[in-house]
Amino acid sequence: MPWKYSDKVLKLFMAAVKGEAGTHMGELEDADGFGEHGSIVCGDTLRFTFRVERHPTDPTRDIITQARYLTFGCTSAIAASEALCTLLEEQHKTPLEALQVTNQDLIDFLDGLPEQKIHCSVMGAEALQKAVADWAVKRGVDLTKWLPDTTPADKDEDEGRVVCNCFSVTEPYLRRKIKELGLHSIAEITNALKAGGGCTVCHHAPGGLQDLLDETWGVMPNKDFEETPASAAAHAEAELSPFRLGQQIEALITELIRPQLRGEGNNIELVDIKEHKVYCRMTGSCSQREETARAVKLRVEHQIKEHVDDRLQVIVV
Ligand code: FES
Repeated sequence: MPWKYSDKVLKLFMAAVKGEAGTHMGELEDADGFGEHGSIVCGDTLRFTFRVERHPTDPTRDIITQARYLTFGCTSAIAASEALCTLLEEQHKTPLEALQVTNQDLIDFLDGLPEQKIHCSVMGAEALQKAVADWAVKRGVDLTKWLPDTTPADKDEDEGRVVCNCFSVTEPYLRRKIKELGLHSIAEITNALKAGGGCTVCHHAPGGLQDLLDETWGVMPNKDFEETPASAAAHAEAELSPFRLGQQIEALITELIRPQLRGEGNNIELVDIKEHKVYCRMTGSCSQREETARAVKLRVEHQIKEHVDDRLQVIVV
């Protein structure tokens, strides 16, 4: 199912990939703030840098003058990153004010994002938090003193127990974001954070996503596979026949995925499709190392979801 993006998302994306004047793709050298979020293994990553005009006596009054990003992600990840940089620069925000920018602000700026792409806006807000934390260390600003409610992502979140192995998402990070974003179902977690969007093993495993939801909000009826009326209607409208679905996936593999994999010494063959599961055979160097195989599988799945239907899941046979 092709994504329905707003005109603004498409305009920002096209301008960014063409490198038009006023766009922000890139990286600032010797940046005053540097933050990264995501992992290339998981399919999305964002590196965010900003430069400030330093206040001569009071660092909390530094003004962000330039912001740049590098992202490995889809249309909405690029558009959300553009939105973030534009907001910061145009509104002459201080880094402390920048911390108040939420993923909802980015979504509003973009005139909305598809539900399943909310994580692109979350990624931008997270990278910004880390960049502000970096600026605070460099400028000797105690963030907890100025913004006691702010909890920038820290080492514990990177090193805590991994709940979702497919996307390397840890328990402390999940606990914080479930509360911060008001996530009440596994589907909402997956849309916002990607966790749970791969093999699904972490959904109901002990200490998994459902347990974290229950501990945060109390035990609720299982909404795991519920769709919102809007997304159900969109899926019904765009439903392809099995024949057309097979054709689209085969075309995507032939035209986009296989050439990329061949360049890395790998290959892929479509074996079967059953009930939103796409069975593929992978050969080449990616089949020899578990870590590489998982990264390639996630990347292929990301492309199939992006270009064909977000409900599809890749199973390597
Ligand atoms: S472990 Fe979470 S989706 Fe696979």
